[in-house]
Amino acid sequence: MERHVSVAIDGPAGAGKSTMARACAKRLGFLYVDTGAIYRTLGYYMRLMGISYKDADGVARLLGEVNVGIVHMDDGVQHMFLNGMDVTDEIRTPEISAYASGVSAYPAVRSALLEMQREFARTHSVVMDGRDIGTVVLPNADVKIFLTASCEVRARRRLLELQQKGERVTYEQVLADMQARDRQDSGRKAAPLKQAEDAVLLDTSDMTVEQALDAIEAIVRRKLG
Ligand code: DC
Repeated sequence: MERHVSVAIDGPAGAGKSTMARACAKRLGFLYVDTGAIYRTLGYYMRLMGISYKDADGVARLLGEVNVGIVHMDDGVQHMFLNGMDVTDEIRTPEISAYASGVSAYPAVRSALLEMQREFARTHSVVMDGRDIGTVVLPNADVKIFLTASCEVRARRRLLELQQKGERVTYEQVLADMQARDRQDSGRKAAPLKQAEDAVLLDTSDMTVEQALDAIEAIVRRKLG
């Protein structure tokens, strides 16, 4: 059987994981898997059905009926389907970020999504990004990177992204959302965001996208020999 290689990139919101992981996958010719999008799709469904992510019974009920599909297009874009409906763009709002973070704290939600994520790494060489890839999803990943940056830098980057999409938000709002999400993702009991012991830490606070990407590629090539 062909041996597949896996690169796990974890870190807090706004650290640049998806930009880095997508570009890194392209350079290596691997499949890019964005696991946050799976939690976002579930969060979007909860929002659509009017269920608060604080309602544990409601979340458990909807979990049983929801169908989340992932399709990787030829251009490398990962499309998310919710009960057959393409929600790729709809899941990218600050409100859905909060829903995703909320539903992702439930152990039942995490275990329901585990196999789906592992299956990608069984069948492809992957660059997978998330919060618990190196610690839980792919503990035997060939390369593990923990990507971070100061909260202020991450908030400024996220503000730019949202402004480019035409969203009217202030730096203070984005920073407050970022801090709340950090607290929630790192403080939860089930698979909290934390650096795996064997992960390489990369702080991109003072790096450009190109510099960060070169640093990641150097780590990957060194690890893979
Ligand atoms: O990476 P992202 O911002 O798209 O992720 C949205 C939320 O999903 C994040 O706040 C926490 C959750 N998440 C998770 O718990 N585990 C993952 N592997 C990926 C995301």
